[in-house]
Amino acid sequence: MLSADTLLSLEAAARAAAQASYSPYSKFPVGAAILCSSGKVFTGCNVENASYGLCNCAERTAIFTAAATGERSIAAVVVYTPTTTPSSPCGACRQVINEFGPDAIVISICDAPERLETTLPALLPAAFGPKNLL
Ligand code: THU
Repeated sequence: MLSADTLLSLEAAARAAAQASYSPYSKFPVGAAILCSSGKVFTGCNVENASYGLCNCAERTAIFTAAATGERSIAAVVVYTPTTTPSSPCGACRQVINEFGPDAIVISICDAPERLETTLPALLPAAFGPKNLL
């Protein structure tokens, strides 16, 4: 369970992260903030590429940044999209969240009051993860 203060600061961080989005192709700036079990917060934005298939989502940017500093456990993910309805993470991001946050809270916010609050197991049931390997 996240405190109201923690949630507000994660939401503000996700919105702010979208300002650094490199999205000249989609023109769809997304921001994410993740809370690690260590208590540290990491942010990310989508980073696109002229070879469109190489675009990286905001959630994965944040998670890879955290992992690259040694973090291995994610408690919560907040994703901001510049829309009037909230969007939940894409399938690739759900799989990447599962690696470090199989029980993570996932919150989607947008430019309207509507929001989604769910969990990774609800978004990715019967996930394939580290426990499935030999
Ligand atoms: N995108 C994200 O960064 N996160 C999401 O949850 C949905 C999609 C990005 C990928 C691409 O740069 C742009 O939004 C349009 O799909």
